Amino acid sequence: MKILGIDIGGSAVKGAPVDTQTGRLLAERFRIETPTRLTPRAMARTVAAVVAHFKWRGPVGIGFPGVVEGSTIRTAANLHPGFIGLDGAKLFRAATGRRVSLINDADAAGLAELRFGAGRRRKGTVLVLTLGTGVGSALFCDGIRWPNSELGHLPYKGRSFEKFVSAAVRKRKGLTWEEWVRRLNLYLHTVETVLWPGLIIIGGGVSSKHEKFFSLLRTRAHIVPAQMGNAAGIVGAALSGAEK
Ligand code: BGC
Repeated sequence: MKILGIDIGGSAVKGAPVDTQTGRLLAERFRIETPTRLTPRAMARTVAAVVAHFKWRGPVGIGFPGVVEGSTIRTAANLHPGFIGLDGAKLFRAATGRRVSLINDADAAGLAELRFGAGRRRKGTVLVLTLGTGVGSALFCDGIRWPNSELGHLPYKGRSFEKFVSAAVRKRKGLTWEEWVRRLNLYLHTVETVLWPGLIIIGGGVSSKHEKFFSLLRTRAHIVPAQMGNAAGIVGAALSGAEK
């Protein structure tokens, strides 16, 4: 199947048509920066611009950075609060005129890694963490996904852990890799204490810089960088569209 995958992020909206059999992008990614928090209406226009860029007539799968229950958006930690309670599929369908499915962005990246990337054919508990503007998580047991696992919001010092360990925080605070990894190790230890994954896959933009920090990571689980790079969110969003 050919589905247009769109990844809504904290700082940009990216999309590309995807062959869901192979996980390959069928055209170069198209990216629109979103430097300010877009309202739902403005975001819908941005998504429609991605659809128009590819002159896309088929179905669209969208990864959204918040809890998505059915197609209802329940949280939007790093986006405009106006999304909360909206039917996301309806919002984006109205703006694009296409059949639209919606999934949490980290769940999408996780689907792509388990199908085509670092988690291929892996049994047992596999955790995919995306480190970007926030911290996303996708949890699988024997290939079955636990939806909306939201482990970036485990509490730490009265706030969400993502406020200490995301890739955005590293940049904003000017942390060295060593300083940031000290935080990340604490986070990973907390996650491992409760979930005991056998494999942890680190995704998000920083995964392409894995040689800078992977040797400093201390986990019980085997830990590897994501293999799908910055296409994971797009490919996974398309995969979830194919499932529905
Ligand atoms: C959101 C998650 C999302 C993650 C990465 C978190 O703040 O709550 O739903 O997956 O950011 O975008």
